Amino acid sequence: MIKNLVDWIDARIPMTATYNRHVGQYATPTNFNFWYFFGSLAMLVLVNQLLTGIWLTMNYVPTAEGAFASIEYIMRDVEYGWLLRYMHSTGASAFFVVIYLHMFRGLIYGSYQKPRELLWLFGMLIFLVLMAEAFMGYLLPWGQMSYWGAQVIISLFGAIPFIGDDLTLWIRGDFVVSGATLNRFFALHVIALPLVLVVLVFLHLIALHEVGSNNPDGIEIKKNKDENGWPVDGIPFHPYYTVKDIFGTAGFLIIFCYVLFFMPEGGGYFLEGPNFEAANPMKTPEHIAPVWYFTPFYAILRAIPDKLIGVMGMGLAIAVLFVLPWLDRCKVKSIRYRSLTHKLNIAQFAISFIILGYLGAVPATPELTIAARVFTLTYFGFFFFLWLYSKNEKTKPVPERLTH
Ligand code: HEM
Repeated sequence: MIKNLVDWIDARIPMTATYNRHVGQYATPTNFNFWYFFGSLAMLVLVNQLLTGIWLTMNYVPTAEGAFASIEYIMRDVEYGWLLRYMHSTGASAFFVVIYLHMFRGLIYGSYQKPRELLWLFGMLIFLVLMAEAFMGYLLPWGQMSYWGAQVIISLFGAIPFIGDDLTLWIRGDFVVSGATLNRFFALHVIALPLVLVVLVFLHLIALHEVGSNNPDGIEIKKNKDENGWPVDGIPFHPYYTVKDIFGTAGFLIIFCYVLFFMPEGGGYFLEGPNFEAANPMKTPEHIAPVWYFTPFYAILRAIPDKLIGVMGMGLAIAVLFVLPWLDRCKVKSIRYRSLTHKLNIAQFAISFIILGYLGAVPATPELTIAARVFTLTYFGFFFFLWLYSKNEKTKPVPERLTH
């Protein structure tokens, strides 16, 4: 009966063919390591955000008068409302942890290089939309940090010459952050941006399956096929990587549940203290800082004294990642076979990013501002030096076959 049903469906849509092409017969390199968990984990977290978001929306009230109280209602009175809310707020931080590690994997194994430029560009668009999604979601609880964070970030657009003031008015829908702003952010957060995200993730995976996965050796497995046309260094995605991804998921869930049940506020980093107080337009919090995943970029913004140049610096810090495939001119992909200069450059980039993240989270002092300037330079230095040395880089010989 099942075979008949499958045949019936296959005669109408290419179900089995699609399954084989993308799962059952999809050739995957044999040497994936820990770093290759994060793509499937990103999908898991995305589904978590979508589902918990839908259920939160059932009891959330998107008005300036009702928003804060409706969150308290969800936390105290709705059955398992606290769990839904914490899964969503902790999920947002988990999303960025996973995405930063996923991007870093791409960086060390040169997965952005030819022929995966478009895959990388779709990834970067996902990253941009994800940042907008998180920023808008953060306004919704209508706490002090929601309100003042949005106030600070939206007012940045005011630095743009000529159109700045009109633009901020257009974004807020009012002269200050108000119920009108909350309403539109709600609409964008619950439907517009999630739709865009899902479409982009779909395109990301189509682009991945067109060219095939890279791997820790940075060798194209498609270049070496047996007489049946199957890559000699490839294994089918299912069952080999479905099992491996289940293992990664279990590991992730252990950590995620630990945070969820024992430290859902993440020491004030996942849910900030001032946000437990309702938004008050008459009272500015002492120290306004964005959530941790924005702080590296916020530190770059604050490091530059001129507002407009600061905004441009922050934008450039993200924009430069888009052109990474064209800045790196080396023929070798993986860090394993690249020069010591490259290894050191990647290491200094990672350290700079983490230190900038710290500097963006703490109140600025004159000394820390100087430190933020230094690390802003080293952040951009990574890209400049990469472009400079990668053309004639002294690399190690890349093996013919994958190594284990
Ligand atoms: C919702 C967010 C995202 C999801 C669900 C997602 C999903 C995936 C999946 C399932 C894979 C294949 C498995 C793996 O290689 O880990 C993958 C590969 C890849 N992703 Fe993403 N991704 C996301 C965001 C990003 C971002 C922000 C970037 C970078 C800007 C990116 C760049 C890449 C690259 C370069 C690969 C190929 C890696 C390789 O083959 O070595 N992705 N992604």
